[in-house]
Amino acid sequence: MTSSRRAFLLGTSAALIAAPSWLRASTMPTPRATEGPFYPTALPLDSDNDLVSVTGQQAKARGTIAHVSGRVLDSAGKPVANARVEIWQCDWQGIYLHPRDGGQNRRDTGFQGFGATTTTGDGSYRFRTIKPVAYAGRTPHIHYKVKAGNRELTTQMYVTGEAGNERDGLYRMLGGNASLVTVTLAPALQIEPEAVSGRFDIVLG
Ligand SMILES: [Fe+2]
Repeated sequence: MTSSRRAFLLGTSAALIAAPSWLRASTMPTPRATEGPFYPTALPLDSDNDLVSVTGQQAKARGTIAHVSGRVLDSAGKPVANARVEIWQCDWQGIYLHPRDGGQNRRDTGFQGFGATTTTGDGSYRFRTIKPVAYAGRTPHIHYKVKAGNRELTTQMYVTGEAGNERDGLYRMLGGNASLVTVTLAPALQIEPEAVSGRFDIVLG
């Protein structure tokens, strides 16, 4: 047996062992989370799925560009098409697009702060945004709101390996469900230089 053939077989058996837990994880409902105080009071005129570029602004958003994509699924694992997916997050300095968040005059106007998109036929969505940063009292996160028919889910996405995760009250409350909302953001040179990317699938309960 050639070494590559052996590697292939080893890979296959590992995949068979891993499959059931992966399958189970993928169809466990995404845990809900509080909306928090910073959902926009008025949606920005430009509220598309590219938060790094704002219509009428020359400068791009500051921070590390992050491509975040995934699928919206129902609890049977079936794709949910035409779901509205909204995200909102603070800029690279920790300032939200919201009149009650301090420092609005310093806010990065090159960052959209909020974006929305609609899932395609296979339930897919994607955003170009920035890698979330920490702000006072919170570990980095991206807020999500998903609307599909009469179903609505509000949650927060976290980033693997962030030192603040275990000190964050909301994150700790997730307990064993934290893995369902924690996403690895890895270098994504094939998409865009110096960008990172990650996948966040959302399962509606
Ligand atoms: Fe937040």
